[in-house]
Amino acid sequence: MIEIAILGFGTVGSGVAEVIDKNQKQILRDVPEGIHVKYILDLRDFPDSPYGDRVVHDISVIVNDPEVKIVCETMGGKNPAFAFSKSCLEAGKSVVTSNKELVDALGGELFMTAKEHSTSYLFEASVGGGIPILRPLRTSFSQEFITDIQGILNGTTNYILTKMERENLDFDTALKQAQDNGFAERNPEADIEGFDPCRKIAILASLVTGGNVKYGQVPCEGISKLDRRDLSYARAIGRAVKLLGVCEHSMETDEVYVRTAPYMVAKDHPLYAVNDVFNGILVRGNMVGDLMFYGSGAGKLPTASAVVSDVVECAQNPGKTINIGLTNQDAKLSDPGLKKEQFFVRADREAKEKAGMLFGAVTPVFLADAPEEFAFVTPVLSDAEFDEKKAQIPGFQKAIRLIG
Ligand code: HSE
Repeated sequence: MIEIAILGFGTVGSGVAEVIDKNQKQILRDVPEGIHVKYILDLRDFPDSPYGDRVVHDISVIVNDPEVKIVCETMGGKNPAFAFSKSCLEAGKSVVTSNKELVDALGGELFMTAKEHSTSYLFEASVGGGIPILRPLRTSFSQEFITDIQGILNGTTNYILTKMERENLDFDTALKQAQDNGFAERNPEADIEGFDPCRKIAILASLVTGGNVKYGQVPCEGISKLDRRDLSYARAIGRAVKLLGVCEHSMETDEVYVRTAPYMVAKDHPLYAVNDVFNGILVRGNMVGDLMFYGSGAGKLPTASAVVSDVVECAQNPGKTINIGLTNQDAKLSDPGLKKEQFFVRADREAKEKAGMLFGAVTPVFLADAPEEFAFVTPVLSDAEFDEKKAQIPGFQKAIRLIG
């Protein structure tokens, strides 16, 4: 048996135990020795759980037990997850995690520690929940230059937008349902304000460029400023509003453009049809072209399944470091103000003439229940050019980027 420990017995941690228990047979095909949960670290006790007798409250029990070869860090947050992960790696144990906050902030350092100790640090579950995306990026795409990644990377906000659109739910009710279903972060601000997908696109951008992209460097906007009219306008122009993480890597300059924001997605774009809690990730390689990864981006068992996939890979590679392509170098970020795109604009109705003067002939869009305002789509402009013009629109309300 390969002995493992789980740090944090919350939604994902308990899911890891469940996947290992229920899918023993499947795991045995690739790990004939079998995988056994020896310890669960948590502040709480779980007297009614079948794992109750394995609960410990002191990380040193795990760190100092040479039988434990792999540690699943499913605690979330930076502290004490960082210190615990580091100690386990230094003790020669591989660490696998779903903790995107820690991976984004200190993943490079933890990977270097893993290298120094011939162990592995893997984090498939940190992006896209159950969708295999990091492993394909580092295996199937070794021969590719990845030019673009566009992803719906947050299940909660995709669920909220879908519910608002299809069932006419208000924002708070849709959020409550997402929380009841276990999709939302403990603090839903991370979902709603886009911090969670921002961390995920930063991780993806780091992996495709081989340089660190930190979440704090990425322009980030969530869905809290959207309202039902935005969704109605999107429908009126044949689009849907989705919260996307976007990464463009230039083959010429090696610079990378990264952003998280709501976008109006065209009907023929593959992400248009990604609804509910599902995530979708479009990857564009210079040789392979466009590939779509689609599946459950959040939730206990999908996320736990991805954690266990890393456990299995570590179990198959004892005593060595699985290369994930992270370095301690910073990525070359491009100036987001130079990025050219089209914008959907909402403004007070009296701004119609001025919009024409600023942007040329634009087609106005009206909603029957919004007589005081109108909307239009700009020509392709750089962010900086748009910012300058937008300041001159009387009664400017908001803008949403277009994609596809
Ligand atoms: N809160 C996240 C989401 C969980 O809704 O996608 C998975 O990271």
